[in-house]
Amino acid sequence: MSDTILVTGGAGFIGSAVVRQLIRETDAEVVTVDCLTYAGHRANLAAVLNSPRHHLVVEDIADAAAMNDVFERFEPRAVMHLAAESHVDRSIDGPAAFIETNILGTYTLLEAARHHWRERDGEDTDPFRFLHVSTDEVYGELGDEGAFHETTPYDPSSPYSASKASADHLARAWHRTYGLPVLVTNCSNNYGPYQYPEKLIPVIILKALAGDPIPVYGTGENVRDWLYVDDHATALRTVLEKGETGETYNVGGRAERQNIEVVHTVCDVLDEIRPRGDGSYRSLISFVTDRPGHDWRYAIDCTKIENDLGWTPTTSFEDGIRQTVEWYIDHLDWVDEVLESGYDLSRLGTGA
Ligand code: NAD
Ligand code: DAU
Repeated sequence: MSDTILVTGGAGFIGSAVVRQLIRETDAEVVTVDCLTYAGHRANLAAVLNSPRHHLVVEDIADAAAMNDVFERFEPRAVMHLAAESHVDRSIDGPAAFIETNILGTYTLLEAARHHWRERDGEDTDPFRFLHVSTDEVYGELGDEGAFHETTPYDPSSPYSASKASADHLARAWHRTYGLPVLVTNCSNNYGPYQYPEKLIPVIILKALAGDPIPVYGTGENVRDWLYVDDHATALRTVLEKGETGETYNVGGRAERQNIEVVHTVCDVLDEIRPRGDGSYRSLISFVTDRPGHDWRYAIDCTKIENDLGWTPTTSFEDGIRQTVEWYIDHLDWVDEVLESGYDLSRLGTGA
């Protein structure tokens, strides 16, 4: 029997990195389940669409009949659940989709997985596993000191992080109540190729290349921890295969930066590889009204995944940023394609 892994949200930023890795580095059959929202694109899966081991199922995870059908049809050995509404700013402007996908969608998927797992249980196969992929934002904000641990109490600030927190609680409840073999990861900010141009790093790159003001929220002193997307994909595969069910693993890049430092790093790389005639890209920086409920600082203690499972990030922040800037410069056609759905890089999430 072939090994089949179902990846929800596989046409998105992180999901597509996971799918590409699975096809490239394993013999598994990979089923991408994705309803192709504004953030999900076939173009993100271009490298695998012709693989006989990859199957794209365009369905909504909140559609119970469709999810039951997917489990019956493909009989996956494992689920990597990444499908979500993922942008904090959009959750401020319109929380409904976040409740529907992140909470109801996760519930629907957990139920479909539970029925599949029950039927599969006892068969002479590898044990079923369900990896629920989440964020460090569920822990809320930190002051200038300290870091999030797996035991840090949840204290989400935004509709996005509250919806992810709800989904995490559901996933853990399905483990405790029904015994579903669930694992949970909480990761810090990802960056890299194929990130939808609404998040900080692609926004900086594209605004800078266009010669437009680079919007920095508030004072620019808020801190995030940054992880290169392929390192996150490796972490997720490591937890799926080696993690203990019922456990949570924090994932981070050990690369804390103030937002303004991130902006400076991107501008400096651009100054080097694509110099503009009229001075540094830094001159485009524009401080704008802060995000409502803007968390001050995130920092991740990822000692557990490092010590217990032997995973560590391999791409430094500086190398990752350079690769990312180069990727966007080389893929402006991809940017045009994914923006066709109607987004023009304008400010989101003011709560107006
Ligand atoms: P993304 O927005 O780039 O991709 C999300 C994907 O999910 C898209 O392809 C979209 O079409 C799909 N999707 C959305 N709603 C769906 C639905 N109802 N049914 C089926 N598919 C649906 O997001 P991302 O940045 O790749 O994040 C992936 C996951 O990782 C999310 O669960 C997010 O919370 C989590 N995460 C993200 C980060 C980050 O920095 N981006 C960090 C930690 C955790
Ligand atoms: O921490 C993990 C989370 O990281 C993920 O769960 C989310 O899915 C992902 O979107 C990301 O959330 P953030 O809100 O941290 O990412 P974003 O890129 O939107 O913003 C990063 C920081 O940069 C944040 O402090 C807000 C600021 N910012 C953002 C944008 C888009 C700006 O200053 N200017 C901008 O234009």
